[in-house]
Amino acid sequence: MNSPFTFGKVVSGKTFINREKELSKLKLNFQSGINTMLISPRRWGKSSLVKKATEESKSENSNLRVCFIDIFKINSELEFYEILLKEILKNSALKWEDWIKTGKNFLKNIVPDFIIGIDPQNDFSIKLRWSDIEKAPDEILNLPEKIALKKNVQFVICIDEFQKIAKFKESLNFQQKLRSVWQYQNRTSYCLFGSKRHIITDLFQNQSMPFYRFGDMMFLQKISKEHWIKHIVNAFAETGKKISNESAINIIEKVQNHPYYVQQLAHQVWINTSKTVNKSIIETSTDELLLYNGIMYANEVEKLSLLQINYLRAIIDKEEKISSKQSVKKYNLGTPGNVPTIKKALENKEIIDFFEKEPSFIDPLFQYWFAKNYK
Ligand SMILES: Nc1ncnc2c1ncn2[C@@H]1O[C@H](COP(=O)(O)OP(=O)(O)O)[C@@H](O)[C@H]1O
Ligand SMILES: [Mg+2]
Repeated sequence: MNSPFTFGKVVSGKTFINREKELSKLKLNFQSGINTMLISPRRWGKSSLVKKATEESKSENSNLRVCFIDIFKINSELEFYEILLKEILKNSALKWEDWIKTGKNFLKNIVPDFIIGIDPQNDFSIKLRWSDIEKAPDEILNLPEKIALKKNVQFVICIDEFQKIAKFKESLNFQQKLRSVWQYQNRTSYCLFGSKRHIITDLFQNQSMPFYRFGDMMFLQKISKEHWIKHIVNAFAETGKKISNESAINIIEKVQNHPYYVQQLAHQVWINTSKTVNKSIIETSTDELLLYNGIMYANEVEKLSLLQINYLRAIIDKEEKISSKQSVKKYNLGTPGNVPTIKKALENKEIIDFFEKEPSFIDPLFQYWFAKNYK
């Protein structure tokens, strides 16, 4: 029998739980053409939430054309335009012949190369020349708006891992270009989301940045305990196994409500259980996960400086004022002046975050492992 728990990929259908409020807010924004920026640490459920919101919105409103673009693997402005154009065209019509026709009709200065495979629906890509784009980037940036007007539809363009944009060459310039075109569109709205909170908040919340106040800012929270309990207890019951509320809570608390890890640990417990979950199964399962992930964690720690490791020790101890003289001495952090640099480095490496002002580990299992091995 298949495990009722999913992790490491976008969840949908029955495996998607709660997020009621966030869903209705997102859907409302999509319907009313309001731009949204959505932020959380990675693996908290952004992609799943946006996917779900777009699916539901599409089925409720047939005038809505939704493009879903993941720019994680994109490294340049040119590639960005290529993938954006592809998604816009694919959402402009049902047949691939029409995608090409629309491209040719609407673009004047830009002449794309269309690459069509045996199965064009899934095997369709576009190559552009930088010399074309340079002269007329607006042609692509304004394309959804033009198509929307002509066809009397509405576009929503969702861009996943948006923080990646900060890594492009001349990023600021590019962001300005995007914003200056996007802000005048009426039939096209954007949902920009991603992790690396410090980068992405800088993109959106820094007054001097082009995307400052671009739209509705949402900070995604973890999924609360009650929803997880219900989900875990039901999932076990439906697959002929039993878990008490107390054990479900035990799983959830072990990984601090972290959506990805709740699913992963629940899955491990499910595998190790033939009939009924007990405490020792949960312990064994946690140890197994620590063992699986341990090699990766050890690699990560190897890349840290001694000062950074010491700083993590202080977090584990819940030290309140880490930059105070006493703490700096106690944890061998060099001088108080070092602390901001250490914090920045750990933030950049996505090991800690300051989501709730206090520094906290992004990965609860890593925290567990670190506390066990480095205390
Ligand atoms: N609404 C949800 N219901 C159940 N599990 C979820 C939900 N959101 C996230 N998860 C869990 O977290 C994992 C990561 O979700 P994902 O949407 O990829 O996060 P992100 O895009 O923020 O990195 C999923 O594979 C799943 O295990
Ligand atoms: Mg994601």
